[in-house]
Amino acid sequence: MNEIHLFAPATVANVSCGFDVLGFALDSVGDWMTIRRNNVGELRITKITGQSLPMEILKNVSGVSALALLKAYGGEQGFDIEIEKNIKPGSGIGSSAASSAGAVFGINELLGKPFSKEELVGFAMKGEALAGGTEHADNVTPCIFGGFTLIQSCQPLRVVSLPSPEELYAVVLHPQIEVKTSDARAILKTHVLLKKAVRQSGYLGGFVSGLFMNDYNLIADSLKDEIVEPARSMLIPLFDEVKLAALENGALGCGISGSGPSIFALNRGEKIAGQVAEAMRKVYQKSQIPFDVHLSKVNPQGIKVD
Ligand code: HSE
Repeated sequence: MNEIHLFAPATVANVSCGFDVLGFALDSVGDWMTIRRNNVGELRITKITGQSLPMEILKNVSGVSALALLKAYGGEQGFDIEIEKNIKPGSGIGSSAASSAGAVFGINELLGKPFSKEELVGFAMKGEALAGGTEHADNVTPCIFGGFTLIQSCQPLRVVSLPSPEELYAVVLHPQIEVKTSDARAILKTHVLLKKAVRQSGYLGGFVSGLFMNDYNLIADSLKDEIVEPARSMLIPLFDEVKLAALENGALGCGISGSGPSIFALNRGEKIAGQVAEAMRKVYQKSQIPFDVHLSKVNPQGIKVD
């Protein structure tokens, strides 16, 4: 195989209760990438459409992630990467993760899968570091593994794939303003009160248990963030109003997607998800800010080869 065409999905990281450790993949929105072998023995980004992003390997997240993989593989392999970028950078739904994960996944396939999915996460984290200054894995992991994923440990990396209850539907409202992950991280306090950390551990444990037990009430009671959301919500216009509208219309929970500005809601069933999407949309129509709303099932597969 000399060429691969793939879909790298958008992802929702943190999922309110699991800052930097929890995430899930969306089905309806993502980037397309084509990766092909070249005979010049060099890694090149040959085309980017949809967004204006650097083509230089060391300035592009897919470039640095792919380089990390090729360095580990050794030899003089050359690849051309083409990106059809649908996910806006700074949107909070894993734009850099999709490019990073897509590049390493595609090259790994063309090389005959020498690396495990967990190793691919490690390479793709280099792209996340370039984009946001931190090697967080909570977007690249669901992008590569699909479904809900938990980073049990970053060093050494240990990924746990979690079940996804059949009736879960996500709604994501994306206000078209940019929030840089590095800025959204810079405003966070470095210390957390023990009693808050205790409550937050309970929510994360409760959410993970809820997924395993198919317990939508437990999921709803656990979709809470006492540590990060209070600090970051001020970066997102109308966040509190959107969250209230989502909850009043039956969402199980609503919070900041990744580092924002996107806002996600998890819902039981497509009908409620549709009502929640409408309610969130109504709130944003009052603002002068352009926005998109996505309704999606949880994507069980992650990256899909065309
Ligand atoms: N966990 C990361 C953060 C996700 O919240 O900073 C960034 O998309």
